[in-house]
Amino acid sequence: MAAVPAANQAGLLLKVQEAIKAGLPDKALADTVKSEVSHAMGADSEPDSLKEMHDGIVYKFLVNGEWRKSTSGRTISNLTPYDETICYEVQACTREEIDEAYATAHAAQRVWAKTPIWKRAELLHKAATVLRQYAALIATPVLREVGKNRKSAYDEVVRTAELLDFAAEEGVRINGEVMSSDAWVGQKRNKLAIVERVPVGVVLCIPPFNYPINLCGSKIGPALIAGNAVVVKTPTQGAVSTLHLGAAFKIAGAPPGLVNVVTGKGSEIGDYLVQHPGANLISFTGGATGIDVSKKAGMVPLQMELGGKDACIVLPDADLELASTAIVKGGFSYSGQRCTAVKIVFATAEIADALLEKVLAKLAKLTIGHPEENADITAVINKKSADYIESLVMDAESKGATLTTPYKRVGNLIHPLIIDHVKENMKLHWEEPFGPVLPFVRVGDAAEAVALANKSSMGLQGCVFTQDINRAILVANELAAGTIQINGPPARGPDHFPFTGFKDSGIGAQGIKYSIESMSKVKSFVINLPEAAHPQGH
Ligand code: G3P
Repeated sequence: MAAVPAANQAGLLLKVQEAIKAGLPDKALADTVKSEVSHAMGADSEPDSLKEMHDGIVYKFLVNGEWRKSTSGRTISNLTPYDETICYEVQACTREEIDEAYATAHAAQRVWAKTPIWKRAELLHKAATVLRQYAALIATPVLREVGKNRKSAYDEVVRTAELLDFAAEEGVRINGEVMSSDAWVGQKRNKLAIVERVPVGVVLCIPPFNYPINLCGSKIGPALIAGNAVVVKTPTQGAVSTLHLGAAFKIAGAPPGLVNVVTGKGSEIGDYLVQHPGANLISFTGGATGIDVSKKAGMVPLQMELGGKDACIVLPDADLELASTAIVKGGFSYSGQRCTAVKIVFATAEIADALLEKVLAKLAKLTIGHPEENADITAVINKKSADYIESLVMDAESKGATLTTPYKRVGNLIHPLIIDHVKENMKLHWEEPFGPVLPFVRVGDAAEAVALANKSSMGLQGCVFTQDINRAILVANELAAGTIQINGPPARGPDHFPFTGFKDSGIGAQGIKYSIESMSKVKSFVINLPEAAHPQGH
């Protein structure tokens, strides 16, 4: 192993001293040293193709194939969730720079639409290879900016590589169809429609902070294979991670302008981006801001996913071991900061106590701490979010709910908590905490659970636990959500499955094939024949 570069040795020493002072147990200390050494090594082994993205912690944006600093001369500070120190600075892009991103995207798209699909697929495969090659380096900003633990951050990069490969393979197999006129009553077969899928043009991609690489790849991959170019607006926290995905496409050889990545505060440039005449489709993942985006967007197609209040219904005959494992995994992975997290449990009276006991036993085993330590529960994204989660806990407690363990928060790190006896008059019953706090509701039967779940304004996913598959289907049929998991926690993946939200949870379908369809439009060529023509099979 090569030596840690001199420039990084002082920082490394400091971190180790801090760890010793903090009294970390031996194993955690060893892991911290290992991780700091690998970071120090990683910083030095960064290839030139990634080095050009930044000057120190100041990152540039990507337009027309070039990394640039904004002419605004302003940057936005990006704080780590766990200690709120500045980890990166990103450019505050101007309107003129956004105009340029759209203009260059449109110019590139005209050429790209005429590029054979196998060549488009080649670019996606190459970008996937770059992601795999630099997965450890690219995972680092995910850890720092959004506080995902190292393993999950790494997995996100690899999952995105797999997604791009799949999108490439799916895209080359999407074909149109031929239709004939004689299916219509009274018509003869003298008209043939050749129906093709054509690109929409330029897709504005707005990914969220919680999957700044994967939920951007899930937009860029299908958009590009369908013949579109993209303008990406990064989340503020998560910007550097998303910029690395842009870098992967640049390194893979994307033509200049095909993939543009702009940064800036949504409050400053969001409206300008979504109302821009250059946007031919908007693919947005995030919170309720999406409703505002949909109102402002005008006559462009939308693909939106705005979160969920995913219900987990546990029936009396359920396998409680399975259900409790799913509740802990579904409710607390990435500290509950997933649109598809279990957001409310409805337990039927017969099994509520037994289920809760199992859930609490499993919850107690989760590790709580720093993302570098691969802790299960890490700090939530920022103070505003932590304060909001806290307000939901306090509201529920003040209205009579039972905190199953004492509420504990250190900075933005909220300890995992199940709140029992949650009732309809509490905010936690309806709102999405997006944190490691899960309401537990006791119900008389499945019908009561379904009625309460369906009162939510959202409908992303839901799940039902029972050993009676017929009953499961009946309950699933009644739940108003895009996907119902039977005997498993809510989840988007595998990423070729459809992902749709009912009600305020979204518009349109995602999932690789569904996204390719959403990001292309139908164009038909009708051949009018002088007489009916019927091709013969013999
Ligand atoms: O927007 C969906 C995301 O928040 C959850 O994705 O893969 O964790 O189910 P996943």
